[in-house]
Amino acid sequence: MGFNIAIDGPAGAGKSTIAKKIAKKLGFIYVDTGAMYRAIGLYLLEKGVNYEDEQQIGRAIQDIQIAISYRDGEQQVMLNGENVSAKIRTEEVGNMASKTSKYPVVREKLLELQRSLASSADVLMDGRDIGTCILPNADLKIFLTADAGVRAKRRYLELTEKGISCNIEDIEKDIIERDRRDTTRAIAPLKKAEDAVEVDTSHMTIDEVVDTIVSMVVSRRG
Ligand code: DC
Repeated sequence: MGFNIAIDGPAGAGKSTIAKKIAKKLGFIYVDTGAMYRAIGLYLLEKGVNYEDEQQIGRAIQDIQIAISYRDGEQQVMLNGENVSAKIRTEEVGNMASKTSKYPVVREKLLELQRSLASSADVLMDGRDIGTCILPNADLKIFLTADAGVRAKRRYLELTEKGISCNIEDIEKDIIERDRRDTTRAIAPLKKAEDAVEVDTSHMTIDEVVDTIVSMVVSRRG
């Protein structure tokens, strides 16, 4: 059993940027669970499945294969053997992932994969329910937050840097709606685990957040 770090928090709080840097510094494997929900979201979008039709979703995902591999230390998500790591990064896919991740059939599909990835190595896993459901015994749990306005600005910069044109007000609305969906769903909602440490990144640089969390790991590991 390795050392397990769980990082949860809302969309745009900086989880993946920060988690990747921490994993590199500490030599941990980084597991981005949002990417797995996105792969399912992409599949459902491509198949034209209605996000409100739970039964159809259940049937559609029965035989799909989601797998994770690593290339130059970067997580790759494979959907039925196809590397979809780039395709899943759109707002449309993120919203579909948020809308469909409330269904038990979708969460069950990914649960074992996530737990098995954490079982043998030093792993840093990020998502919404890692500290509360997936790894309740994680050695360190972080709940990463930031104001919605700050998160919208970060997402806007990230997208425009990639050459994707977007509107910051629409992004903020989307983020608020996504938070509402992720925190109010019946199963495994986004919520701070009782024993998680909350880190508000609104007024922190990436390096400050990374250093804060790395020092927590160092002190817990002894
Ligand atoms: O972190 P992200 O934006 O890539 O995640 C996309 C969606 O997937 C998110 O809005 C909710 C869902 N998700 C989830 O329900 N549980 C997780 N552990 C990770 C993501």
